[in-house]
Amino acid sequence: MSSLIKLQGVSKTYRLGDNLIAALHAVDFTLNSGEMTAIMGASGSGKSTLMHILGLLDRPTEGHHWFLGQEVSGLSEAALASLRNEKIGFVFQSFFLLPRSSALQNVMLPLFYRGLPRALAQEKAHQALAKMRVAHLAEHRPSQLSGGQQQRVAIARALVGDAAVILADEPTGALDSETGKDVMTVLANLNRQEGRTIVIITHDQAVSQRCERVVTMKDGRLSAIPAEHVAMGDSKGGDRGSPPFGASKSVAFAQHKNKEAFPRF
Ligand SMILES: Nc1ncnc2c1ncn2[C@@H]1O[C@H](COP(=O)(O)OP(=O)(O)OP(=O)(O)O)[C@@H](O)[C@H]1O
Ligand SMILES: [Mg+2]
Repeated sequence: MSSLIKLQGVSKTYRLGDNLIAALHAVDFTLNSGEMTAIMGASGSGKSTLMHILGLLDRPTEGHHWFLGQEVSGLSEAALASLRNEKIGFVFQSFFLLPRSSALQNVMLPLFYRGLPRALAQEKAHQALAKMRVAHLAEHRPSQLSGGQQQRVAIARALVGDAAVILADEPTGALDSETGKDVMTVLANLNRQEGRTIVIITHDQAVSQRCERVVTMKDGRLSAIPAEHVAMGDSKGGDRGSPPFGASKSVAFAQHKNKEAFPRF
């Protein structure tokens, strides 16, 4: 197995006015090609922060980060955006589909940014929708799709550009358990049948049990502690648990959600 992503001593500190919030502490992490890895941990433990860094959506405050063997800390925003577009597929809990665009147009988006001719982009988007078994819904807008169908469209968008890695932040978090199982089967098949490298953030033991490797975040630190020994927060409840390092919960939460509101593909 070759290493796709490597983090060494990665820390992330957010500044909110006079407050410093240490969201990640000296994280070392290697992701090998072909792995399906779950990241677990209580609410506020740093999972999404880690994923944003793995996905080149955010930069570490300290440490080294290699992506496909290239040290990425020195790269410009434009270089990061193009690496992201070509190599990384994102799947989020709340799907992030453009509401006024059809399923097909949503899946074409990463290819459109890449400058692919329209006909080719359309063909590839159709293939990706077909692989997700939602080709018959190509002309539907997100509001005309069920949650599970929307997530299949979002996975099609993550796949369409042949990304080297798919990063999924609680992909089943907004789905009922049966639909969640179905989405997990889709992801597990992509890993097993196509050798896709997948990282899944989850609070759900049923999800992590389907991953060959599980790592756990606790107070911004990554450990190999088996997930069943770590108290999981409830991401859907009102209580996100005590934020570590004296973070101002409401402000930090609002900021965090703002950041998630603008994923760039
Ligand atoms: N943009 C931001 N600005 C300030 N603080 C932030 C920001 N994003 C996250 N944080 C803080 O960093 C810490 C880690 O947050 P993160 O979102 O990574 O947690 P998480 O493990 O994904 O939680 P959840 O399971 O609830 O999604 C928290 O204390 C959070 O409040
Ligand atoms: Mg999160």
